[in-house]
Amino acid sequence: MSRLVVVSNRLPLGENPSGGLVVALDDALRSSGGLWIGFSGEPVEDPAEELIDHPGAAFDRLSFDLSPEDHHNYYLGFSNSVLWPICHGRADLAHLDPVYLDGYRKVSARIARLMVPHLRPDDRIWVQDYQLFALGAELRKLGVRNPIGHFLHIPFPAPAECATLPNPAELFDWMTHYDLVGFQASRDMDNFAASGFHMAGMEQIGLNTFRLDGRTLRAEVFPIGIDAQSFIEEARDAPDADQVRFLTNARLMIGVDRLDYSKGIPQRFRAFQQLLESIPDLHEKISFLQIAPPTRSGVQAYDDIREETEYLAGRINGQFATLNWTPIRFINRPYPREVLAGLYRQARIGLVTPLADGMNLVAKEFVAAQDPEDPGVLILSRFAGAAEQMPEALIINPHDAHETAAAMASAMRMSIEERRERHAAMLQVVLEKDVGWWSAAYLEALEQESTKEQPEN
Ligand code: ADP
Ligand code: G6P
Repeated sequence: MSRLVVVSNRLPLGENPSGGLVVALDDALRSSGGLWIGFSGEPVEDPAEELIDHPGAAFDRLSFDLSPEDHHNYYLGFSNSVLWPICHGRADLAHLDPVYLDGYRKVSARIARLMVPHLRPDDRIWVQDYQLFALGAELRKLGVRNPIGHFLHIPFPAPAECATLPNPAELFDWMTHYDLVGFQASRDMDNFAASGFHMAGMEQIGLNTFRLDGRTLRAEVFPIGIDAQSFIEEARDAPDADQVRFLTNARLMIGVDRLDYSKGIPQRFRAFQQLLESIPDLHEKISFLQIAPPTRSGVQAYDDIREETEYLAGRINGQFATLNWTPIRFINRPYPREVLAGLYRQARIGLVTPLADGMNLVAKEFVAAQDPEDPGVLILSRFAGAAEQMPEALIINPHDAHETAAAMASAMRMSIEERRERHAAMLQVVLEKDVGWWSAAYLEALEQESTKEQPEN
């Protein structure tokens, strides 16, 4: 079996990684072995001109350094101030600066250069996510002929959103240098086909095949999963000590997200406020725990979302709290996976209300963690990729506080029979399409694609 080489911006070197990409690939590589290449984590003044080995994991790990300037332009800049907001429908938050795009191109070329000496002729290379759209094209320029695939963990933009990029045509040039590109949901495939046609003249020549400038590309949907079985066990075995305790007879409603504007956290706070305003009987009966570690600090939109959520949580607590009850507990730090698993299991409601999201693994983790005999209810945004796979959740429009509040009320009232029925249907998908299924399905498709002849230049 040939070696799997995964490349992503983030490489898991510390404890408690939060972010779907690392959680999923960690699970995938643990079982298959292989090599994972990624950023060392902190920018350094004098970056090493080689990859650095990090022994001690179930797979090999090599990291690349970035200078503060490269980190700023490539990671904070083009990746997270241009691509991320535009792919999540927030062009209004994008900060278009030509220096960012130059930094992105430069870092992609550098990573490719550092990787080449470590590659073996029969490696399969699997590049992850929007930070590395350009890596495949750079590897090809250096003569790498191995199968190279890309998987996009976030939504792919529709034509009107794509048009807000500074370089829409170049995006499709980058992408068509891969043998296979994978998306989370069918809406992403549809957007890819429509945007590629409108922005770059990319032709669809088959159900899953596209052509641009003489290059042929296969594109397909592979919804990412979780390590469902181990999550079920972790939730079942979670220690009692990690449970949330209440002074009143309250039920737990839980949200777990990076503190990102795409996650709809202010919207869900407002929906909860709407619930408490409209149904006073629920006071002291429901308590909302939102766990949200800050992320990407240094990007203005992330600093703003932190302030906005702190303000809203404080205001709602001020308005409704009693001596024995705090309506919202807002915690800004990561927790180990087994603690999260136990918290999900304790909750009557899991609140997953992104305004846009590739998949959303928290939705699947919540389902896996439930006691099938007495499961909680998942409230899920129609804009999460997970909604395509789990229509049995209470599907809501996260912009609509009334609709979301009504879903909270109905989850509180829902009969045990209905809860079991909905949960069983969702659990089946989470178990069948788990992370092992996802990586095997993707890698099998990549295997089928032979290395392409590249045009000159
Ligand atoms: P994203 O990839 O955009 O962050 P996902 O929901 O797909 O969103 O994945 C988030 C992953 O990070 C999940 O596996 C979740 O358990 C984990 N995570 C999120 N918040 C925390 C936290 N506070 N502590 C630990 N892990 C977290
Ligand atoms: C999302 C992205 C990942 C990213 C993660 C955490 O899951 O799709 O690519 O790694 O968020 O974000 P960060 O910027 O901290 O790596």
